[in-house]
Amino acid sequence: MTTQTIDSVPLLDLDAQYRNIQQEVKQAVTDVMESQQFIMGPEVQELEDQVADYCESPHAIGCASGSDALLLSLMAIDTGPGDYVLTTPYTFFATAGAIARLGATPVFLDIDPVTYNIDPEEVRMFLEGKHPICSKFEADPSDVKALIPVHLYGQVADMDPLMELADEYDFYVIEDAAQAIGAEYKGRRAGSIGDFGCFSFFPSKNLGGYGDGGMITTSNDELAEKLRVLRVHGSKPKYHHKIVGVNSRLDTIQAAILKVKLQYLDEWSDRRREKAQRYRQLFEEAELLAPTDARKNPCGEHEQALRDHILPPKEVEGSPEQDGRHVYHQFVIRSASRDLIQNQLKEANVGHSIYYPVPLHEQECFGHLGYEAGDCPASHCASIQTLALPIFPELTDDQQQYVVEQVKKSIRG
Ligand SMILES: Cc1ncc(COP(=O)(O)O)c(C=O)c1O
Repeated sequence: MTTQTIDSVPLLDLDAQYRNIQQEVKQAVTDVMESQQFIMGPEVQELEDQVADYCESPHAIGCASGSDALLLSLMAIDTGPGDYVLTTPYTFFATAGAIARLGATPVFLDIDPVTYNIDPEEVRMFLEGKHPICSKFEADPSDVKALIPVHLYGQVADMDPLMELADEYDFYVIEDAAQAIGAEYKGRRAGSIGDFGCFSFFPSKNLGGYGDGGMITTSNDELAEKLRVLRVHGSKPKYHHKIVGVNSRLDTIQAAILKVKLQYLDEWSDRRREKAQRYRQLFEEAELLAPTDARKNPCGEHEQALRDHILPPKEVEGSPEQDGRHVYHQFVIRSASRDLIQNQLKEANVGHSIYYPVPLHEQECFGHLGYEAGDCPASHCASIQTLALPIFPELTDDQQQYVVEQVKKSIRG
C-alpha cells in the first residue's frame, strides 16, 4: 500500500483531462475563431450528426443547455397548463423546473431504492388511479402529457415497463439523459428509447463542454423539425414566426470542443466503470459492505446494518450489451452514517457531494402542490443516506485507496 503521499482527492479533476487533450482543444477553438462563425457554424451540425450516431438516434438537435433540452422537448409536444408530467423527485431541479415553467404540473412518483431511478410500479399505480397521491390531484390519466424518467448517476431507468405504460395510456416519454450519455439499457443507448433524449454538456458531465450546452435526440422527423425551429425563436424562414420559440442554440465553440471530447468518451466511460469496480473491491476488502438485502429497506429494518457499513451502487448484472451499461457519472454510496462519513472526508480533503439533499417534492417552490416527505419515502431516505465519492477517468488506485480508508475511519474509528 502506497497511500502515504496522498493527502487529498478531488471529487472531479477536469484539469487532468484538459492537460491530456489541450492541443486538440486549442486547435478546435482557434479554427472557430478563424472562421468567425460563432452562431450555428458547421461544427454544430457536425457534432449533431456525431451525437445522433453515438446515441443511435436518427436526429440530434443542439441547444443551449440540458435544462433547455427538457424545456424544448416539452414545448415541442405543446405542454402547458392542465397537463400533468410524471417524474421522479430524486433528480436535479431542472427536470421539474422545465415542467413548471410551462405552467404544467409535475407529478412526483417515488424511486426504486436500489437504482435511485423512477419505480415503474409507482407510475402504474398512478395511472390506474390507485396511488395514494391520486386523490390529492384528483388526476385523470388522460391529463398525463408526458413522463420524464431520469437516468440518474449514469444508469438508465427501467425503460421497458415505462414504454409499455406510455403505449397503453398514450403519453410521451422524455428521457432525461443529462447524466447518462453512452449508458445502455438492454443493448439500447440512453436517449434512443423514448420520444426524446435530453443531454447536458455542463462542464462536469461525462461529456462536458467549456461552458453550457445541451442536445436533444429523437427518432420522430416532425418533432425534430419542430425542435430546430423552436430553438431559433420559432422562426422559419428567418424572421417569419409561425410559433413562439426561444433563443437556445449550442455555441459553435462549444460544439468544436465537444467534437474533440466525443472521440474519447467511450474510453473515459470504460475507465469510470473500472474505477467503480475497483471501489467495490476495496470496500469489500475493507469489510465495509452491508448485506445486499439492506438495499430493500435502508431506512427501515436495515438501517442498523447501514450504521457501520455502506452500500455501493449495485452493479448491473449480466453483460453490458444484454443488460445494461452504467457510465458512472457519479459513484454514490449509501450509509445511515452518511454525515459522519462526510465530516471525515472533509477533514481528509476528499471531494464529495450529496446528490440530492432535498428531493423535489420537498422543495419550497413546490410547496403549493401539497406533498409531504412521506409521499415519496424512498426518495426522502436516499436524500439522507447518499454520498457521491470521487470518480473520473484519471482517478488513481492510490487515490481510491485513500478514499476508502477515510470512509472506514469514519464509521469504524
Ligand atoms: C438530471 C439532470 N437533468 C438536467 C440537467 C440540466 O442540465 P444543464 O445544467 O446543462 O442545464 C442536469 C445537469 O445539470 C441533470 O443532472
